[in-house]
Amino acid sequence: MKLVLVAACALVDADGRVLLTERPEGKQLAGLWEFPGGKVEPGERPEECLIRELAEELGITVAEPCLAPLTFASHTYETFQLLMPLWICRRWEGTPHGREGQRLAWVKPGRLRDYPMPPADEPLIPVLLDLLGPGR
Ligand code: C5P
Repeated sequence: MKLVLVAACALVDADGRVLLTERPEGKQLAGLWEFPGGKVEPGERPEECLIRELAEELGITVAEPCLAPLTFASHTYETFQLLMPLWICRRWEGTPHGREGQRLAWVKPGRLRDYPMPPADEPLIPVLLDLLGPGR
């Protein structure tokens, strides 16, 4: 089965909230909320991919030392296996905005379960809750 590598990031703001982005209409899993990121292209290191995707999708600049590895998601979809490392990032330049028209939500960790997510992303929630607590 094909292996797809996606790099993703939990951006955490000064209030301890986490950024989720909505998958746009027309894409697979449209309407579900995910940690921003995208597919690693041939020849790319996952960190380079993530920095590129965060600039393309959200218009922010992230310096590589600001990315801390956190965990991996792994999920077997019908036609491919997804492997998705998740980084956590608390510092970036610019204000995240949906450059591709996607909606954004800043969510307290304790409310992440209120947002329907792709099955690969859901198991990441307890990891973030352990690290960040539920938030006030
Ligand atoms: O974002 P993109 O469509 O390029 O991602 C490829 C596939 O990886 C998606 O179709 C989706 O099944 C999966 N994915 C996911 N969770 C994410 C990002 C992608 O399950 N946060």
